[in-house]
Amino acid sequence: MVTKSKGLNSKTVTLPLIPQETPSLSAQKAGTIRIQGVHKSFPQFDAPDIIVLADINLEFKAGEFIALIGPSGCGKSTLLRLIAGLVLPDKGRLNLDDAEIGGPGYERGLVFQDPTLFPWKTIYENIAFGLRARGVYPREKTRIPEFFKLVGLEGFERSYPHHLSGGMAQRAALARALVNKPKVLLLDEPLGALDAFTRMNMQDEILKIWEHHGMTTIMVTHDVDEAIYMADRIVVMSSRPAKIEQILQMGIGRPRQRGDPDFLDLRAKILKILHFAGTKQELPYYL
Ligand SMILES: Nc1ncnc2c1ncn2[C@@H]1O[C@H](COP(=O)(O)OP(=O)(O)O)[C@@H](O)[C@H]1O
Ligand SMILES: [Mg+2]
Repeated sequence: MVTKSKGLNSKTVTLPLIPQETPSLSAQKAGTIRIQGVHKSFPQFDAPDIIVLADINLEFKAGEFIALIGPSGCGKSTLLRLIAGLVLPDKGRLNLDDAEIGGPGYERGLVFQDPTLFPWKTIYENIAFGLRARGVYPREKTRIPEFFKLVGLEGFERSYPHHLSGGMAQRAALARALVNKPKVLLLDEPLGALDAFTRMNMQDEILKIWEHHGMTTIMVTHDVDEAIYMADRIVVMSSRPAKIEQILQMGIGRPRQRGDPDFLDLRAKILKILHFAGTKQELPYYL
């Protein structure tokens, strides 16, 4: 049933990979994201502008885990890139706590579907890159080993990205985003390219990090099971121009079991909503 989530208070997942001595991580603060009246369109060659987002209003509470789902091309990545500050809205505003988002910032970490590691740099250098970009390397380099531990990549410091499996490369990308202790972690289909077993393991890894670290996490996924397994709330977007179709609060505790009746009930409801979202425009009969 869709009821109030237990959220961060239900810390029943064990944390075998998390080192106990990580005061800098637990000192981490989460941030609230407010999206008010946001419109975004893109110019097209020889065609009218494409309206991607129309009047989006959302609030993600500090420490929440949000899953963003919706039809392909509806504007999920655009919304994430707006929060990251990589693109700016045409109208409306986005805030992280009291500050308006006007560009990229280290307090908002972004992980893409493709790990996007620098192939010519070692894993250590890839993870250190975040600190260098922020201008705190080498002053804060003593923190790097804790992030290798956090994502289970100890021993791979000198390896290059092509030495790693897809799951390991994605862990490295996650560590690179986390090394600056972001208040908000933005994940754009981060597990989409992984095989089913690695994907389920990574879901647990991300949940452990989130439960320990406490940052607000917004994850785009097209996998309904993944969204129910991981999120406090699921935001369902409609087809372009995207509107918020539904916001569903998960009423099931953690850790979740994919076979539980409550889980399957939610799954059936969300699949029904998704079926209607994105099929409102009738297809021409000759297609
Ligand atoms: N920089 C851009 N320039 C032009 N069109 C873009 C740009 N970014 C995204 N779009 C278009 O906006 C729409 C939504 O894209 P996106 O946010 O990537 O969708 P989703 O992640 O939901 O699949 C798509 O039609 C895409 O082609
Ligand atoms: Mg996308």
